[in-house]
Amino acid sequence: MALDLAIIGGTGLYQFPGLENVTRQSVETPYGATSAPVVRGELAGRPVAFLARHGEGHSVPPHRVNYRANVWALHSLGARRVIGVNAVGGIRADMGPRVVAIPDQIIDYTHGRYTSFCDVDGAEVKHVDFSEPYSAGLRAALLAAAASAGVAVVDGGCYGATQGPRLETRAEIARMRRDGCDLVGMTGMPEAALARELELDYACIALIANWGAGCGDEAEISLDEIFANLREATALVPRL
Ligand code: HPA
Repeated sequence: MALDLAIIGGTGLYQFPGLENVTRQSVETPYGATSAPVVRGELAGRPVAFLARHGEGHSVPPHRVNYRANVWALHSLGARRVIGVNAVGGIRADMGPRVVAIPDQIIDYTHGRYTSFCDVDGAEVKHVDFSEPYSAGLRAALLAAAASAGVAVVDGGCYGATQGPRLETRAEIARMRRDGCDLVGMTGMPEAALARELELDYACIALIANWGAGCGDEAEISLDEIFANLREATALVPRL
């Protein structure tokens, strides 16, 4: 069976549990090195590729991820559907720690990243439609999978992509809330836009690790708590 589905794992998801007959493949790309070798295997008898966005030892910070190499590599191996798993902070009241969401919109606040495959001399200039940044079909498949696996997920939400690696100020989150953001993360862009340029179906599983700054009761966000919450939410991903 040809490869169809690829998963890009974020913070807390460095290996995909339950992948069988695993092989590792380094992929050369015109954009340089991927964050890690691509791990290929079978999930419920279907071929799946997995790539750790931050490297297998979490050595690559969000603003230094080679998003172009990662997306290009998965496409070059034959993937046509890509699920990005992203740790995020919650802004909207129903997006608290340990909630899983399948967002449907994006606002991009990142800067200084390579955001397009056109960013190369001589490349064809493309203006892809991005009104709906995530694939409707893949989102629907994720929502159906969540229902049948009994995994509670929030359908929809606007992902605000920030530069990182620092967390945001309260004022930044207040502004993002006014802008209409429901979630905040550092890695949702340019990954989604690059996937669109290559005509991949792309959707996001957002794992809420903490309240965005000023959204919960705590004065400061503790990293220990982020990772504990993330472990709980990440455990739901293989079922999903
Ligand atoms: N902000 C940005 N990215 C994040 C957060 C956050 O609060 N939590 C997990 N990833």
